[in-house]
Amino acid sequence: MISAKSLLAFLCATAIATAPVVAQDASDNLTATHEEDGKWLTADDVPTFKIEADGTVDWYTFSGFRRYNSECFVCHGPDGQGSSYAPALAKSVLLLDYYDFMGVVAGGKQEGNLVMPAFGDNKNVMCYLDDIYVYLKAMGAEAIPRGRPAKKAAKPASAGEAEDACMG
Ligand code: HEC
Repeated sequence: MISAKSLLAFLCATAIATAPVVAQDASDNLTATHEEDGKWLTADDVPTFKIEADGTVDWYTFSGFRRYNSECFVCHGPDGQGSSYAPALAKSVLLLDYYDFMGVVAGGKQEGNLVMPAFGDNKNVMCYLDDIYVYLKAMGAEAIPRGRPAKKAAKPASAGEAEDACMG
């Protein structure tokens, strides 16, 4: 595992050599560049989706679809498309960064009569928040069609272990 400090030094050095290319990569919040135990990450180590040419979705995208439908759907509408009451999260995730997304879900948000509940104490949400986030990004990027993904990758052993540890 490369430390944040050396990564920064590396990025600075590369930025001088090839500024435009690095700037583009760093702002790409969607493209999967590497995988850790079945969870795909961007160049910035932010979770993202990975869809195979035949439409098979990675495990986390599929899991996120299910979790979204049990915890968020009631307010945010089908397929993250929004409702008269709450915003379209498939769009929000393309605008908010990963950490802001996590912060709003954990801490909630209120504007006038619009109330986004705080889910920080809800393990059914917090233990699966990366899943929900990558699913919404796949929807927002139109990398998957609306509805239940037809084909999914097998559940990685590490996903089960992380789940058990988180749910306690
Ligand atoms: C009880 C209804 C309700 C539920 C359930 C709900 N939300 Fe929300 N959410 C809202 C409302 C209303 C807003 C807009 C709040 C505002 O603008 O102040 C919101 C805003 C958000 C935002 C900020 C969006 C933006 O563009 O700024 C995120 C992120 C979010 N919700 C994620 C989630 C996730 C993930 C879930 C499921 C785990 C979820 N919400 C479940 C009502 C809900």
